[in-house]
Amino acid sequence: TLVRLSEYRAPAWRVSQVELTFDLGIDTTEVTSRLHLQRDPAQDAPLRLDGEGLELLSIALDGEPLAGDAWRYADNVLEVDGARDGSVLETRVCLRPAANTALEGLYLSGPRERGFLLTQCEAEGFRHITFFPDRPDVLASYTVTLCADRDRFPVLLAGGNPDGQGELEGGRHWARFVDPHPKPSYLFALVAGRLQKIERDYATGGGRAVKLVIWAEPDAIGQCGYAMDALERSMRWDEEAYGREYDLDVFHVVATHDFNMGAMENKGLNIFNAKYLLADPDSSTDDEYRAVEAVVAHEYFHNWSGNRVTCRDWFQLSLKEGLTVFREQQFSADMNSAALKRIEDVALLRRAQFPEDAGPLAHPVRPAQYSEINNFYTATVYEKGSELVRMVAGRLGRDGFRRGMDRYFARNDGQAATLEDFLGALGEANGIDLMPYLAWYAQAGTPRLSARGLYDAAHRTYTLTLSQHTPPTPHQPHKQPLPIPVKLALFDRAGQIMPLHLTDDSAETSGATERVVVLDRAEQAFVFQQITEAPVPSLLRGFSAPVILECAYEPADLALLLRHDPDGFNRWEAGQQLAARAYDNLREGNETSALDAWCDALEALFNDGAMDPALLADLLTPPGEIELAERERQVDPSHVHALRQQLQEHLALRIGQSTLQHRYESLAAHASLQLDASNQARRRLKRRVLELLSRIDPWTAHAQATLQYDNAPSMTDRLAALAVLVRGNASQAHAALAHFRERYADNPLAMDKWFSVQTQLPGELVLDRVRALEADEAFTLKNPNRVNSLFGAWARNNPDGFHRPDGSGYQLLAERLKQLDALNPQVAARMATAFNGWQRLEPGRRALARSAIESVAAHAALSRNLNEIVQSMLHS
Ligand code: ARG
Ligand code: ZN
Repeated sequence: TLVRLSEYRAPAWRVSQVELTFDLGIDTTEVTSRLHLQRDPAQDAPLRLDGEGLELLSIALDGEPLAGDAWRYADNVLEVDGARDGSVLETRVCLRPAANTALEGLYLSGPRERGFLLTQCEAEGFRHITFFPDRPDVLASYTVTLCADRDRFPVLLAGGNPDGQGELEGGRHWARFVDPHPKPSYLFALVAGRLQKIERDYATGGGRAVKLVIWAEPDAIGQCGYAMDALERSMRWDEEAYGREYDLDVFHVVATHDFNMGAMENKGLNIFNAKYLLADPDSSTDDEYRAVEAVVAHEYFHNWSGNRVTCRDWFQLSLKEGLTVFREQQFSADMNSAALKRIEDVALLRRAQFPEDAGPLAHPVRPAQYSEINNFYTATVYEKGSELVRMVAGRLGRDGFRRGMDRYFARNDGQAATLEDFLGALGEANGIDLMPYLAWYAQAGTPRLSARGLYDAAHRTYTLTLSQHTPPTPHQPHKQPLPIPVKLALFDRAGQIMPLHLTDDSAETSGATERVVVLDRAEQAFVFQQITEAPVPSLLRGFSAPVILECAYEPADLALLLRHDPDGFNRWEAGQQLAARAYDNLREGNETSALDAWCDALEALFNDGAMDPALLADLLTPPGEIELAERERQVDPSHVHALRQQLQEHLALRIGQSTLQHRYESLAAHASLQLDASNQARRRLKRRVLELLSRIDPWTAHAQATLQYDNAPSMTDRLAALAVLVRGNASQAHAALAHFRERYADNPLAMDKWFSVQTQLPGELVLDRVRALEADEAFTLKNPNRVNSLFGAWARNNPDGFHRPDGSGYQLLAERLKQLDALNPQVAARMATAFNGWQRLEPGRRALARSAIESVAAHAALSRNLNEIVQSMLHS
């Protein structure tokens, strides 16, 4: 059964107020709910409430127990007769938290003796807790009372402000929370158990005193300090950048090791996958620190973009997610290096979203239909969604965007909004029609942007002709042109940037060195005047639109940009394009002009003392195997892997063994555990240099990696060394892995790294290791982080190791998907997307992949989640 955007109808029944009482227990929990109902007078529909797997104990309407023929509960819907506008429906249900392995609704995190209870409701988890119109356009105020044994559950939390607590008979206690802000049910949350806290007082710019509290299990509370700092920075930043203040007296944050996603923005009670909250130098890498900062900010920013203004329906998911990712990206760019952040974001988009947009699961940022909404928390909705906001923000400029956002928040506060509301408010506040951007939200697939330049020496003009087309995607054979903003600059042959004069320029824009031109039809030409020589164009600067640029650059043009473009992002971008062309050289084997240009330019930059080490590390990294595979008509992942290795060998040889080693040694001499940007940058370059060295001089590199492992002051250095040892299949890897395991046996997040680093073994060896690791006593299919650290890291990050020519990798994954689906459908469905791209494999692997996917599809009792993914895989 498909839910369709075109079939949206306002709810026939709303709930103005919810009173919930929980009688909490690990095995059974009783939930009493009183719903104050509102009927839409314009609709004549019976009261129908969502409820999944609920054991109904009692039901009463307006204080009267309901007779058995006055209600029906079937197919996850409770239908009740006799309700009127203003009626109060009271139900009591029984839940079984310890038996809930899907981690949706109310569940137990950790072992039953010491674990704690928590909820996850987005998108449709609230219906696993009580009967309710479980859709985001039903906003209600919540009063929640938690009752539990005091010893077993000393801490009781729910969203909103605290509203009393006290003792009950028999060693029990209670606590009440009232949320004054009406909210949809997906933002409900509770937590109960033995947790410890750290606290901080925060005062908003407007003078509200807020108690910030982070909660974790006793062994993890010492790792929450960094998240607390990041939270404070986020709150301050949102006040300054967007004028948004926090709106409750308390803000609670909780860490759990058992979580399907990254984190959740429940009103006043954010819940985090521990992976994105805990951090300390001994067990977290620099990348993980930055991820903690980003996710803390993301969830906090949702308080306005998501909670105060929420979504009308789940088709609008990107209204909150794309916007919040964008806000987080701006924040992270402000806190760290803007160029590096942009590189990281675009690399992620290309690695995760472009392949999604090019495969059987392609869908618009605002999908038109779904079977299971949890399958749409995708890179397209999140990352491409953020790029769409970025384009609009770029169109309005800094002040215009702020003006538009102020209008959006003011007009939609306390409401459930649509993407039309968003673009409408932004546009109206600026007197600009932004509705043409809606086409981006409705059309799947990555547009191809072609650029052709023609220099006319006689007239001293340069004509840039831009054209676009978007290849067909499943269910969308025909595409329309989209508005594509192209930020650009022109360089002369000496690498100097040129002043720009467009034909119909005004006096004030004429002569700027950077411009944005907007292509909003299939093809369009832009003529630049007073151009004194054939220029090299730097196009799509800062990645001004999420498209694939096709431009017939000479290798020397890209090398010029790589050396001279002052824009760090576009410099990296020129290097990526050049590396991709160098890869083509190696594959075709007939010429080496791109390969030579790439190696020469990087050699020069490597020896340029003024280069930022972190940017240099990124420049020295060619596009990943998934990205390079997009250049092949038929993909042989082993061949792609081998060519990429060769590419790095060429680069390492050009820079030279002794130069690399010298640089490594000088970086290693200053090993530190400081987290500041320059130390992070040096660690990043050190890792890259060691990796390059291992390509051409494995013996030395492994000796150095062993030393680095033994003496590492931080996890960043330790894990980097371990990764080099594991990939080299060196015997030293065994000793280091054994040591790591021993040292971190009690640290689940570090143990996840122990699993995932081993999935990077060379392709022909890794499958045996994966089998050995899943037999390890520390492995369990019940923990999403552990599953991702083994199967996810193997199938996604080691294409050569997953796509074994005999199909054994596919079979293993297919078998595990069937088992996993019975435990946790959300995690199984996400894992199944590792098969994305299978239709483009070379014929042998393609047939083997198909039969593995078919074997999953044929499995009895597949969840709606996994079924939707495998059906799309096979039939679109
Ligand atoms: N809203 C959360 C975030 O992006 C994600 C929660 C998704 N949960 C899910 N089960 N689909 O911050
Ligand atoms: Zn989010």
